Amino acid sequence: MTFGVGVVGTGAVAQLHLAALRKTPNARLVGVADVVPDRARSAAIAYSKDVRWSGSAAELFAWPEVDGVIVCTPNRTHAEVVAQALTAGKHVLVEKPLALDLASADRLVRAAESSGLVLMPGHTHRFYDYGRQIKEWLDAGRLGNPRYVRLSISTGWIWGGWGSWVIDPAESGGHLLHNGVHMLDLVTWWLGADPVQVMARGQKLTSSHLQIWDYFHVVIGYAGGAAAVVEFSRGSRPRGGVERSLTVAGDAGFLTMPADGWGGILRTDEGTSPLGFDGQQGFDREVAAWVQAAAHREPSPVKPQDGRRAVQLALAAEASITAARPVRVDS
Ligand SMILES: NC(=O)c1ccc[n+]([C@@H]2O[C@H](COP(=O)([O-])OP(=O)(O)OC[C@H]3O[C@@H](n4cnc5c(N)ncnc54)[C@H](O)[C@@H]3O)[C@@H](O)[C@H]2O)c1
Repeated sequence: MTFGVGVVGTGAVAQLHLAALRKTPNARLVGVADVVPDRARSAAIAYSKDVRWSGSAAELFAWPEVDGVIVCTPNRTHAEVVAQALTAGKHVLVEKPLALDLASADRLVRAAESSGLVLMPGHTHRFYDYGRQIKEWLDAGRLGNPRYVRLSISTGWIWGGWGSWVIDPAESGGHLLHNGVHMLDLVTWWLGADPVQVMARGQKLTSSHLQIWDYFHVVIGYAGGAAAVVEFSRGSRPRGGVERSLTVAGDAGFLTMPADGWGGILRTDEGTSPLGFDGQQGFDREVAAWVQAAAHREPSPVKPQDGRRAVQLALAAEASITAARPVRVDS
């Protein structure tokens, strides 16, 4: 049976999901919706003449050929759009963050559980080569017992001008909820442990007039004693610069990723292994994994609770920056 998909929100990230859908076996794009109808229409035409379009997500949810929807709308809208989709009986792949507050995230987790539908938060970094490979190596014990992760990403400004929804905390939740959730989810998934404490600091590098931090670092302490340090800047100079670095250390080896790319090298007593990176491939795998889970009503690789935990960590980090002290996290 072919799995019918609808895409809600046809802006930047939707293009990556649409490209992924073309390559997903047993999936068919039924239609797209956007509050700006012309955007939905252009996206439908660009994909294929058979694709329907609408200016309303509610209308798309009523199309019976749609089995599941990919939600690509701005962060503030996720809680409401996802709740509507689940109520309409659709499986959901929702872009991160799952929601902007814990009460909304809890409601979505419960709605998914009671409906039996698949709700998968889009933590794309788990599907990139480096994300998967590091998890595989850690689970296979190649680094021994994991002790710490240090993940640092420094980039210049990519968020447009003062009108961009991403820098409006009411719309995006701020940098920690917008981008931070990717990293907070990834390091926690790698370490496979429950976070217990968060300590964070933030800066406004681009302008003191910003209402969000465009730089933050977060230290997470886990049950069992492991730790993660996550650093992320969108305000570095030069503007177009990108610097990323990663260290994962266990008691039997450590892994590093060089500063000039996403590729990596694992070093252990057995020798070294290379590691590659392809951005679109992350979306291809994510969409394929969601379609597989939803079409067969299997558990998805990223659970609603994982999305909730990433939101919880981002909110704890925000609270820690504001209070200038560590914040406890309950599991
Ligand atoms: N996984 C990733 O790596 C990644 C990368 C970029 C963005 N994102 C996430 O994707 C989402 C979208 O980001 P974007 O950069 O594509 O934004 P965007 O502004 O380019 O696109 C959002 C689109 O949603 C439409 N929209 C707004 N409210 C709507 C509603 N209620 N119903 C239907 N359409 C609506 C807008 O008109 C717009 O076309 C965000 O949640 C963002 O956090 C994820």
